[in-house]
Amino acid sequence: MLGAARLRGAATQAVRAGASTTTARQIHFAARPACRPSLAGSRPSSAIAQAQRTLFTRTPPTPLARTRQFAYLVLTLAGGAFAVAYYLDSRSGIHRWVAIPLLKAFTDPETAQKLAIKLLETGLAPKDFGVDDEILQTELFGKTISNPIGLAAGFDKQAEAIDGLLDLGFGFIEIGSVTPEPQPGNPQPRYFRLTDDEACINRFGFNSEGHSVILSRLRDRVRRWLLHSTNVASLHQALTGSPDGSSTAAQQLLASHPKSNSAFVDAVGLPRSLQHGKLLAVNLGKNKTSKEESVDDYVKGVERLGPYADMIVVNVSSPNTPGLRRLQRRGVLEDLLTQVVKARDAMVSAHVNPAKEGGKVAVPLLVKIAPDLSTEELHDVADAAINSGIDGLVISNTTISRPESLRSSEHVRETGGLSGPPVKPLALKALQTVHGRIQGKLPIIGCGGVTNGQDALDYAKAGASAVELYTSFGYQGVGLPRKIKDELTELLKAEGKTWKQVVGTGVKLSEVTVAAPNDNVPMGLSPARDEAFTKSVASVKQELAGLRQNLGLPSASSPPPAVFVPDREKDEAYYTLVEKANAALGLSFPAGQKPSASAASPEALKDAPKTQGEQAAERAAAVLKDPKGPEIKVQVTDKTKKVFGDSLRGRVAEAEDAAANRDFGKVDKSRVV
Ligand SMILES: Cc1cc2nc3c(=O)[nH]c(=O)nc-3n(C[C@H](O)[C@H](O)[C@H](O)COP(=O)(O)O)c2cc1C
Repeated sequence: MLGAARLRGAATQAVRAGASTTTARQIHFAARPACRPSLAGSRPSSAIAQAQRTLFTRTPPTPLARTRQFAYLVLTLAGGAFAVAYYLDSRSGIHRWVAIPLLKAFTDPETAQKLAIKLLETGLAPKDFGVDDEILQTELFGKTISNPIGLAAGFDKQAEAIDGLLDLGFGFIEIGSVTPEPQPGNPQPRYFRLTDDEACINRFGFNSEGHSVILSRLRDRVRRWLLHSTNVASLHQALTGSPDGSSTAAQQLLASHPKSNSAFVDAVGLPRSLQHGKLLAVNLGKNKTSKEESVDDYVKGVERLGPYADMIVVNVSSPNTPGLRRLQRRGVLEDLLTQVVKARDAMVSAHVNPAKEGGKVAVPLLVKIAPDLSTEELHDVADAAINSGIDGLVISNTTISRPESLRSSEHVRETGGLSGPPVKPLALKALQTVHGRIQGKLPIIGCGGVTNGQDALDYAKAGASAVELYTSFGYQGVGLPRKIKDELTELLKAEGKTWKQVVGTGVKLSEVTVAAPNDNVPMGLSPARDEAFTKSVASVKQELAGLRQNLGLPSASSPPPAVFVPDREKDEAYYTLVEKANAALGLSFPAGQKPSASAASPEALKDAPKTQGEQAAERAAAVLKDPKGPEIKVQVTDKTKKVFGDSLRGRVAEAEDAAANRDFGKVDKSRVV
């Protein structure tokens, strides 16, 4: 009340002092709500009444004020329009330099991806407004795509953001992997960033909503498209020859037609992506509970989802479903692909193109393989692809290896498939090997570490008809397809060739570079990497020596101890990896040896001499407990500072934490400074 009276006084004074009407009105409005009750019982003074009269009497704005108001309005609208246009343009720096760092700072990769999918699903996401240069145009399975850059499987596993993703300028996108029955995949966390390499490790294990949910999403998309009047008009014309197809009845009839599937889409000459110059691929996976060598999951996928796809990718190379990669073996793969092709061919007659009586539309089938196969295995895959009658290959999936060139120390030991730039050398080599074997008979889609225009060009020269990417999209955001297309256009123009002309022209693997944060690191080991690698090998050796001591095993110089070596027969790839790891560490274990139970027995451990680490821990514990010991100086982490500030309490907490983590026992608090 007091404040209201003061404000009222200020209004009066402002009027008396001849302040501008606006100032007085502002003060008065501020006083109004609070002063109303007090004014109810008393008459306002004449000065206030005068002020109110002045305040509520609107004088018409002068032409100058009107112009100013108009200018403000125009500026506000233009500013708003600019902000919206800037946000909507996928090339805007805000997406890469603000949105992505924020997402990385505040979310784990799985949450970040979910948020991105949700945004893309709403239709309010940025878009690529650029036009693809003709130099990029190519064909896949007889359909034209305006550019050869696609989005790889795994990003839109549940087919939720197809249109939003196509609008970002990809030439094609691959949804899935989709499994027949819904399954949750592996427990979280299952997706990790290796930031220093702009790479990732994932072990999702095919989290999928299953065929029927994905099918209903794909069907709804076609129905929505059918209900779109311009489509219906041309569709009606294509189907009946009559130009009048725009009536609501016709629309509804078509949308509810039992064949409201790709037959209608095919009839008007659109790809099943429902966008000209772009394709939609569906990637098929297997349920974890399905029999290891069973083909049924893929056959069902072709039958159910094939009618909505421009291509179907049979995924036999995910490292996260037990036994899946074994389907890549000679004999098994050929048999599997032959059966899937048979199922596809059986469907062809069921999908007669209504526009052309008797016309047949067969969905092209591709197989996606791992980059970890030996040359011999890659030759087997190539032969199986040709013999089975499939239409193409995707090379490659993630790798189970951890290349020496990795810079990151965090998360590298997580189980799962590694993706991003470190995969490029492996995938490129595998692609070149298969391309050489099949001699261009089947198109190959290159995948693994595509991050810029140069990567795409390298893949084309190695034999890829198109490329697709995933991990770099997570690191660089929505502007990436446009950026790669622009870089690629420039590179092709410099060579005076189109994309189609460079496919399969050859690339020297030793000259290829791998994109890494802030620089281009040559493939293989650079001197700096050599040094880092030697150091890390030395530290692992030291650790192993400690472990040996701990286990009571003889030192490395004495005859090699018995260790577990995987059974070569059962898991060739793993065996080779272990062998390589042993060789890198300078340890050679006789093949086939089984673990020695006595070596790690509790009895052996009891009498084992203390390791250096254990001795150091004991010394530290003694010093920390000793009341006569020296002051304990603690470096407080930012996390602790956030809770305790830079206080003694914080430092004691930090010291206690550190000691507990290292098993150092209790800390003498009075000595913490
Ligand atoms: C988080 C994540 C999930 C993936 N999920 C699938 C999948 O469901 N099916 C599949 O065929 N590939 C999947 N991939 C593999 C990618 O499609 C791609 O083959 C691989 O990541 C290599 O490409 P990149 O280096 O551009 O990421 C996944 C990759 C990542 C990083």
